[in-house]
Amino acid sequence: MKTRILMVCLGNICRSPLAEGILKSKVDTNKIFVDSAGTGDYHIDEGPDPRSVAIANQYDLDITSQRGRQFSVEDFDNFDRIYVMDMSNYHNVISLARNNEDKEKVSLILNEIFPGENVEVPDPYHGGEDGFQKVYEMLDQACDVIAEKNS
Ligand code: 4NP
Repeated sequence: MKTRILMVCLGNICRSPLAEGILKSKVDTNKIFVDSAGTGDYHIDEGPDPRSVAIANQYDLDITSQRGRQFSVEDFDNFDRIYVMDMSNYHNVISLARNNEDKEKVSLILNEIFPGENVEVPDPYHGGEDGFQKVYEMLDQACDVIAEKNS
């Protein structure tokens, strides 16, 4: 059975699509299934933000085929690990958990590189292009660790 990993942010158009694309590029996708979702419902069926598409392109990743979807309680059944970008995402996802098994699947993605420090991936939506560069670099490092763990 494939290991299933879900990346979660608020809109599912900026951070989690990048996390999905980056992790897919680092793992054997025959063995690992990677997806992303947003806790909000603002961008369902939309493609990623053009600024995320642009930064991904700079690193030879094409994320344009992704479409926004909202996190739902079934995702606890469908995924083994759920990585959230910030504490707000964490609380939103945890509030839907039905039991401890669900809760234990959820963690901040940057805890992979800064264990226990609860560092957040900042929401770049209202900022400039350089925010997307920083987000990319953070996610790239975290995904290196996740890929190594799942190799
Ligand atoms: P994301 O960024 O959570 O990284 O996809 C956002 C995108 C859209 C909104 C908020 C954050 N929004 O409020 O529409």
